Amino acid sequence: MERTFEQLKSIADHIKGRTGGFEPETGIILGSGLSGLASLIDIKAELSYASIPGFLTSTAPGHEGRLIFGTLEGRRLVCMSGRFHRYEGYSYADLAMPVRVLKLLGIRQLIVTNAAGAINSSWSAGDIMLIKDHIKLFGDSPMTGPNMAEFGPRFFDTTDMYSRDLRALARECAGEQGIEVREGVYFYFPGPQFESPAEIRAARTLGGDAAGMSTVAEALTAAHMKLPVLGISLMTNMAAGILDQPLSSEEVNEAAEKASPRMEALVRAIVRRFAEEGL
Ligand code: HPA
Repeated sequence: MERTFEQLKSIADHIKGRTGGFEPETGIILGSGLSGLASLIDIKAELSYASIPGFLTSTAPGHEGRLIFGTLEGRRLVCMSGRFHRYEGYSYADLAMPVRVLKLLGIRQLIVTNAAGAINSSWSAGDIMLIKDHIKLFGDSPMTGPNMAEFGPRFFDTTDMYSRDLRALARECAGEQGIEVREGVYFYFPGPQFESPAEIRAARTLGGDAAGMSTVAEALTAAHMKLPVLGISLMTNMAAGILDQPLSSEEVNEAAEKASPRMEALVRAIVRRFAEEGL
């Protein structure tokens, strides 16, 4: 569904009216099985997606539908616990809406987390990857349709979409926390089926390090608005065909849960730095 700027603004105004003047500085979108971070936030307000007129509702397993406002490590956050995917039936243009609303709420950067399958065969399940770029060969852009000049230009640059500065900051935070992080290219597949082994081999040849079904529509929407993005992927499994075993969402969720303390410590350290440096 196409939305006008006024409709997006009225969704943001509705949210502002229910969150008591809370002004979030950073947005976070939590990936599959990574919603534990929400429980660390000192919550000031919480809205279910279903209660926000014009918002989308989460249907994917492991994705709650809550917009959480509160502070963590001195940073004011708005956190989407539950994200939206193309495979739920939303169009790419639909997927732009929540990110635009977060921007209208005042965020200055966006952290996106996700679960992904490791394509890079020298990596292991449990590894954390900072996204340095992505490859999206499927489907159209979230910016398909009339351009909304209020957000950005018709043709926009994506060179530094996954901000170099934020990645450097995240690497430093990881080092301080003794958390090893990798850096690589997120290869987007629309799902909901896991990829075929041949698709994964093709993705590796094309330069992908991790396979996943989310994040890129959000990152492109942010790039259109020049909103810096930090993408953090958890390798919940080796991608299809690397090991001689089938993939399952149970494996993904189990691995995500196991790695949650490391992901949470990393995000915590990052938002603390945002607060300290007034970013
Ligand atoms: N492929 C796509 N998305 C995923 C995977 C995968 O192997 N694991 C977790 N999310």
